[in-house]
Amino acid sequence: MKTENGPDEIAIQVSGLVKRFGEQTAVDHVDLAVPTGSVFGLLGPNGAGKTTIVRMLSTLLRPDGGHALVAGLDVMAHPQAVRRVIGLTGQFAAVDETLSGYENIYMIGRLLDMPAKDAKRRAEELLLTFGLAEDARKPAKQYSGGMRRRLDLAASLVGRPRVLFLDEPTTGLDPARRNDLWDIVRELSQSGTTVLLTTQYMEEAEALAQDIAVMDRGRFIARGTAEELKVRIAGRTIRLRPMAAADLPVLREVLLDVLGSADESAPGTLAGPVSDDAKVAALLAALAAKDIAIADISTVTASLDEVFLTLTESKNAGQKPGAPARTAPETASAAASVAEPEKEVAR
Ligand SMILES: Nc1ncnc2c1ncn2[C@@H]1O[C@H](COP(=O)(O)OP(=O)(O)O)[C@@H](O)[C@H]1O
Ligand SMILES: [Mg+2]
Repeated sequence: MKTENGPDEIAIQVSGLVKRFGEQTAVDHVDLAVPTGSVFGLLGPNGAGKTTIVRMLSTLLRPDGGHALVAGLDVMAHPQAVRRVIGLTGQFAAVDETLSGYENIYMIGRLLDMPAKDAKRRAEELLLTFGLAEDARKPAKQYSGGMRRRLDLAASLVGRPRVLFLDEPTTGLDPARRNDLWDIVRELSQSGTTVLLTTQYMEEAEALAQDIAVMDRGRFIARGTAEELKVRIAGRTIRLRPMAAADLPVLREVLLDVLGSADESAPGTLAGPVSDDAKVAALLAALAAKDIAIADISTVTASLDEVFLTLTESKNAGQKPGAPARTAPETASAAASVAEPEKEVAR
């Protein structure tokens, strides 16, 4: 059955989105399509442009170029309509400190034109879901960081948004609170809410997002599922430990010959990159031909952290994997920023 909110629908459709701040292009021709009910992870370091994308999609900031549809509504032409179907949890919790948890949520319900009775019921329901019922009457300024985050998220859900923007929702949360929040995001997604989540943590993108874009300096530098990114960009590694240490030199030769590289990953163990299964087969054949007995063999897929490192390293070397060709003026500024990586880190 295909409903208005059907799984084939695209909830967020972005093409050629651009935002400039003075000389700087904070978001540089970004394209994006997020299916309804999925979680999209926007992963990148500080200053990558994540918040700027979220602010444009949530109508807080006007794009300088491109198009963006949220729940089928144009963010530039119909910002009011967009605001009615989205929820936003910002990077910094935006609760009113002087109001209680209950009052914060209730007030939002009233601002959304809910009758008092409905606003009350919705507030109670959300405070319960987010484990804040006991502290509902305390002023928010007495809440811990984790409680504020949860209150902030609860506040963004009052109007049952179809599309939810979560801007670094777990930054600064301890692991237990972070896991709670992950569970909530999964539940929302299962109930059909589309989530666009920004994060600096690979682990978070991997845990929640079906589709991930790695972003740096306003551009998407890689796209795919966590698994695809890991295999495609950082690759898979095979590790081999021969029965006899005396076989190590020959094993090294075989790895260099078949895989092109051999690293001592642990004492008595050699490792090399395997891009596909054919390489594994070729390696095993070569080992048999040389009569090398293997005590231990394993393949390891890179972690997303390694993927990120790979991307950053190749970027600093002046090659941007997956980046589209640049026009002349951008090349100049890109070259300048590549030459000064420390400046970026210092931000
Ligand atoms: N209102 C603004 N005025 C000027 N520059 C801004 C503004 N907002 C963001 N920027 C710049 O745009 C870039 C992207 O910022 P942002 O989207 O906040 O990155 P992220 O959320 O990935 O950390 C940064 O270099 C930041 O300094
Ligand atoms: Mg940000």
